[in-house]
Amino acid sequence: MTGERQIHNLALIGFMGTGKSSVGRMAAMQLHYDLIDTDELIERRAGKTISGIFSEDGEPAFREIERNLVAEMNGWRKKVISTGGGLAASDANLASLKQHALIVCLWASPEAIYERVKTQTHRPLLQGPDPLGKIRELLEQRTRFYKQADVLVHTGTRSVREVTQQVFHQFHAARHPEPEREKSH
Ligand code: S3P
Repeated sequence: MTGERQIHNLALIGFMGTGKSSVGRMAAMQLHYDLIDTDELIERRAGKTISGIFSEDGEPAFREIERNLVAEMNGWRKKVISTGGGLAASDANLASLKQHALIVCLWASPEAIYERVKTQTHRPLLQGPDPLGKIRELLEQRTRFYKQADVLVHTGTRSVREVTQQVFHQFHAARHPEPEREKSH
């Protein structure tokens, strides 16, 4: 971590179904930060669901809304930002997030993701005939972005509480480096 890095917020990135919203909620409570779920904020502002935005305006319009929201985040303080799964799949969005947030990526295998999302219907990208294939394809495309996170947390079979604890400790360590760690830079 460089001296210039400002960590005012915690950003959770990662694929759909990796637990960003649940972990974000618990982390925000522990940190006494506000929780901002980007999908929820976008839906509230647009007055329609994410599926509605995809079907009526198209995915590029949704990505533009995400980009504009990311630009807004520069002035945010003490927020846990739970991002939609595609928001961090952009070098520009990642670079912008890194200016004010510690970026933590929640990671899971395609099979584990599929198990978590298979009964849900609110994600337009996974409504096709082969959701597991789509998960594999998108995850492969996005891995290079997700791996640019400051911290990668494997969710595996861990509970939301366990994952949150790990995220919380990483965030604390990044914001309050030990003297030894500071000296080594
Ligand atoms: C998307 C993930 C969704 C939502 C939209 C697109 C993606 O968010 O933003 O359906 O491209 O991965 P979650 O990760 O919260 O499901």
